[in-house]
This record gives sequence, C-alpha cells and structure tokens, in this order.
Amino acid sequence: MNEKASNYQDPYIVNKNLGFPLQIGSSDLPSENADGQPVIELTVEQKYVFDTRGWLLVPEVLGGSELEEMQDFCYRLHRDPESIPEHERSTLGGAVQKLLDHPVVVGLLNEFTAYPPLSSQECYGFSLEGSHLFYRSVGMGGFGPHNGNGLYRLPGDVHYYDAFPGKAYSPHTRIVWELNPVKKGQGGTLLVPGSHKSVHTAPDEIQNPDSDIWTTYGCPAGSVVFFTEALTHSGTPWTNTENDRLAVFNLYSPVDSGFARRLKPHPDLLESMPPMRRTLFRERHIVDNVVGSDYRRLYNQY
Ligand SMILES: [Fe+2]
Repeated sequence: MNEKASNYQDPYIVNKNLGFPLQIGSSDLPSENADGQPVIELTVEQKYVFDTRGWLLVPEVLGGSELEEMQDFCYRLHRDPESIPEHERSTLGGAVQKLLDHPVVVGLLNEFTAYPPLSSQECYGFSLEGSHLFYRSVGMGGFGPHNGNGLYRLPGDVHYYDAFPGKAYSPHTRIVWELNPVKKGQGGTLLVPGSHKSVHTAPDEIQNPDSDIWTTYGCPAGSVVFFTEALTHSGTPWTNTENDRLAVFNLYSPVDSGFARRLKPHPDLLESMPPMRRTLFRERHIVDNVVGSDYRRLYNQY
C-alpha cells in the first residue's frame, strides 16, 4: 500500500453548530511563515510519532552561520546582557527571534495546536505564551516530574491532550531548541512516552530519574524537540562536561486561552517584527481575532 492510501483519513470533528463536522481547507492554515519561508509540514511518520509518544526530535534543523549567530546571541544574553539593546534582550529578540515561527515549528503547530477558524495565511492559529533561555553548566538543573494523564481533564486548564480518529490536538505545546550538543542521559529533558494519554496514576518509579520508565535523547547542536505539555516530563541535572546546555524553550498556547498571562514583548521589539509574527502575541479570545478572514467562516458548515 502506498503512503497516501495507508494514511488516508478524514477526521470527523464536531463543529460549533448542531454536530456538523469541521472542514478545514488548505488555505485555513498558513503555508508560509512571517519571513515568507514555506512551512515544512510533518511527514506521516513524524505526525504518528508525535501523537503516539507525545514527543518528537528533529535533528540538525539549524547549522552553519545561522546556528553560530544564534549561539553567539544566547552566550551574550547569558554572560553579557548589557551588550544587547534593551528591547532585544530576550529570546524574543536578536538572532533567535526567527525560531518562534521557524517553518518546522509552524508545520507541527498547524497540525497539533492551531485552531483553524482563527488561522489564515496572514495569521497564526496559536499563540506564544513563554520563551526562555535554559543555560546550564555541570550540576545545574533539577529533577521534578510533572503532568501526564492529559485525555480526561475538565476544561479550564490547557495541560490536556485530545485525540480523535484521524486528528489529535495538543493545546499546550513545548518546543525546545538545543543550540549545543546534548549527550544522551547527560542532562536533556526526561520524558515518559505515551503518558499524555495514560489513564492510571503514575507509579512510584516515576520518582526515580534512573528508572526505565523515563526516556530521553541525545542530539547534535541545532536540533529541535517538540513535546506536548500534557506529557509527563522533567528536567535533570546537566552532567555533560564537554559543553554547557544552551537551549531556547518556547511554549505555545491556544489563541483563546492559556496557562500564563499573555506574553508582551518590549513595544519596540513588537513594532519591529513582521506583522504575521506579531499575531503570536495577540489577545486570547475568539470573536474578531483572525487577520484577513472572518472567525465565523468555518462555523455552521452545513
Ligand atoms: Fe513542564
């Protein structure tokens, strides 16, 4: 069976009115990012792996001078922040700003996090809730398992995960850019595969970072790790003596809700961003909150 035939699926997701299905068209989700770069869609395998395990590693997305510029910016941000203009002094600025809506990021979020009625070719269907530099030398970082069991939560907290035949939804999605190499078992994030869909309470072994219940990854510099925040995960002390951890942690939420307050970049920085990137920081609500389209266009499709 070829890939197209084996992967054919037409999910039935109930739309806003009377139980008719939501029909998402190809123009409802952006095909280019704010810099005009074509969005890189997930492969069939990547989509399956992210949904099944709750996390996905894409190695070596960045390289060459682009990666070096980002490393330099992050070292300066950590060691000599005063050397960076105030409005650029965060992981929302400088060379790493383009990570916020990198084509591979938009590809995964279009599939798993976007709300199509609030998405268009000029507007992202998700928002950015947090962005931080994780700089760790040997001994830094601690163990603190959290989350898991994302399927059956009451509405009101975005740490959940929905799965329908043919479609899955991760409202709260973490994207980690590892700008330095990570050696497996030496400080990369710990993850419990499949725990976003688990329905039992976690066993005591979860408190042991060396338990086989945990998995982790090693990767070259410039790799990206995606995971749903509904997955059980944890930090762990950095033990790699060859290089420090240099990671940008970005956290995405729906456009009508979130866990933390709306993220507000420095006004001068926001002003300097391309218009589409600014939509990552818009207010979180539904009515009249899509650029270049009508929020009701996918409602009442019958
Ligand atoms: Fe977390």
